[in-house]
Amino acid sequence: MNNNIVILGTQWGDEGKGKIVDFLSLDSAYVVRYHGGHNAGHTLVVDGKKIVLHLIPSGLLHPNVIGIIANGVVISPFELIKEIKMLKKNYISIKNRLFISDSAPLILPYHIEMDIAREKKLGVNAIGTTGRGIGPAYEDKIARRALRMNDLKDENKLSLRLEEIVDYYNSQLVSFYKHKSINYKTILNNLIKVKDLICDMIQDTTSILFKAIENNKKIIFEGAQGSFLDIDHGTYPYVTSSNTTVGSAITGTGIGPKNLNYILGVTKAYSTRVGNGPFCTETFGKIDDYLSKRGQEFGATTGRKRRTGWLDGVLLRKAVKMNSLSGLCLTKLDILDNLKEIKICTSYKNIGVNNKNYPSFYGFENVEPVYEVYPGWMKSTLGIRKIQDLPKEARNYINCIERIARISVDMISTGPDRFDTIIVNNPFLKID
Ligand code: IMP
Repeated sequence: MNNNIVILGTQWGDEGKGKIVDFLSLDSAYVVRYHGGHNAGHTLVVDGKKIVLHLIPSGLLHPNVIGIIANGVVISPFELIKEIKMLKKNYISIKNRLFISDSAPLILPYHIEMDIAREKKLGVNAIGTTGRGIGPAYEDKIARRALRMNDLKDENKLSLRLEEIVDYYNSQLVSFYKHKSINYKTILNNLIKVKDLICDMIQDTTSILFKAIENNKKIIFEGAQGSFLDIDHGTYPYVTSSNTTVGSAITGTGIGPKNLNYILGVTKAYSTRVGNGPFCTETFGKIDDYLSKRGQEFGATTGRKRRTGWLDGVLLRKAVKMNSLSGLCLTKLDILDNLKEIKICTSYKNIGVNNKNYPSFYGFENVEPVYEVYPGWMKSTLGIRKIQDLPKEARNYINCIERIARISVDMISTGPDRFDTIIVNNPFLKID
């Protein structure tokens, strides 16, 4: 019997997925990253110590877990090495337990320069990307031009292909974007320095997963970003360049949909968004100050201040549908502890002909949120580990989320530590 869980974000990223992956990995054998790149930032607090991961699956902090970076991820070899070294410094060894797909496309310095040059040219219309080269790297993949992990194994071929690609990028960077050019030799020499460290980890990760599934191993598929940053289903063009919704767990790994047994949507008890794009429940002034300071809402990857807002129940309901969610995990509930009133958006005004239950993003700039207002609990919920110990107002708020999103809240996170977690229904036990 398979026992696999997908964990993904239902908002615009930064929902606290890393902590939940880390917590549920205690019971799992494999953790798999399947899309995105080092634009993600997963902050984990273990024994009071903060560790931020960008590429390496969050479950790898447990010594018996095997980590996989699958084909759907775009990988900067240099960032990967940096992260492995950071873990080593923290006495976490990944030797023989991190495998990287031979088909994962590489992110190289020309992608980063192109990302920066494009954002600069867009000016006030910039997407607000993380500047990590994610968009250009996925473009190369779709254009069938990308260098992939397996190419690191053949230095001659790598050198020839790299020269061609750098030429292609330089022509655009210099003539169109009036940006600096890139030196192909520097990239090649730097790649040669790190490739041997990486080559040992390169594998056909789809086969590894097939075998794990045949042997009934528990697997966690770790999503990055959030549902409304999805390239197809998000607030386009203010999105990332991968599919952040559940389909990526299949295409980004090579396994079939029947192997995904429980899909957990992680939702912050309020909303945040980094970068530009519509955000109709956005808060300003005192509430924004409160949420960003108390919630430490600063990007784990770029350090940028996140925009904050009330929970958008309408979008949450859509995320439940788009991802076939099995249950929700509500995070950062404790951040709301000192608010007298808590709002949740339950419908929209000015939505026009758009579907009220499951709106699309055409005309979304004009929608106005309609809120239900709930009394706050004005007590600390930090570190509470049993649902019955939550103040009744907090339980009320959770019931309201379940009603609006039409799904059960199966887990609640009440603090940054791994064990500051309430399990209402254990996802592993909920799988029939
Ligand atoms: P990109 O993924 O760097 O191209 O950025 C595109 C958009 O996605 C920008 O608004 C970023 O701020 C946002 N984004 C990308 N990764 C994350 C993440 O891990 N958390 C939150 N927002 C993200």
